[in-house]
Amino acid sequence: MTAARTVEVVPSLLSADLSRLAAELRRVQEGGAEWVAVDVMDGHFVPNLSFGPDLVRAVKRLSPLRLDVHLMVTNPETAAPWLIKAGADRVIFHIEACGDAPALLRALRAQGVAAGVAVKPGTPAERLLPLLGEADLALVMTVEPGFGGAAFLDAMLPKIAAVRRVLDEGGLPCRLQVDGGINLETVEAVAGAGAEILIAGHGVFGNPDPAGAIRTLRAKAQAAYSGRAG
Ligand code: DX5
Repeated sequence: MTAARTVEVVPSLLSADLSRLAAELRRVQEGGAEWVAVDVMDGHFVPNLSFGPDLVRAVKRLSPLRLDVHLMVTNPETAAPWLIKAGADRVIFHIEACGDAPALLRALRAQGVAAGVAVKPGTPAERLLPLLGEADLALVMTVEPGFGGAAFLDAMLPKIAAVRRVLDEGGLPCRLQVDGGINLETVEAVAGAGAEILIAGHGVFGNPDPAGAIRTLRAKAQAAYSGRAG
């Protein structure tokens, strides 16, 4: 039986209006967000370029929200210290871009941040399972990474459930995060499969009322997560 866990909705700045960053951060904070997600893309690991340490520093200056930094880069070992120095509170790297994931998890922790490991849709859960005892967070991507507003991949639901099962059976503290296409239509399916941290870009910032969107997503997710069998 999973200990009662609180589901979190974390807005992704990839879908925010950066010309009004301070206002956007206030709006999601009003909705009860405690974290905000910063997607770092290098144009190699994913076919897009996005944010870097300067945005992390700007958010740190503008808001008390904690920073969840998702590295979609080919050199996470090199890039992570730059983001940590800028103010990241947790750093998530991709297993597909790292030769020694356990070592990088340890290195991130040694630098004072929570350490997460992510898998793309095409990477099987089996690659993630051996790391669940060492990671603070495991991220199952529910879209092909690189862009906001992409269509949710239903095929990821069994993968989420498989990771949840291993975490529960092992009594592991590692948190299970999902990212991509999380909105009012998909939120109950992912939380019902066992996801407890939900990254949402378009589902929050694409809504005229981001604060209300976060509250509704969180309420639906918490009910679905708590209502899971087992
Ligand atoms: C996609 C990013 C996601 C994205 C989520 O590569 O990692 O965080 O911003 O955006 P939505 O929720 O719009 O799919």
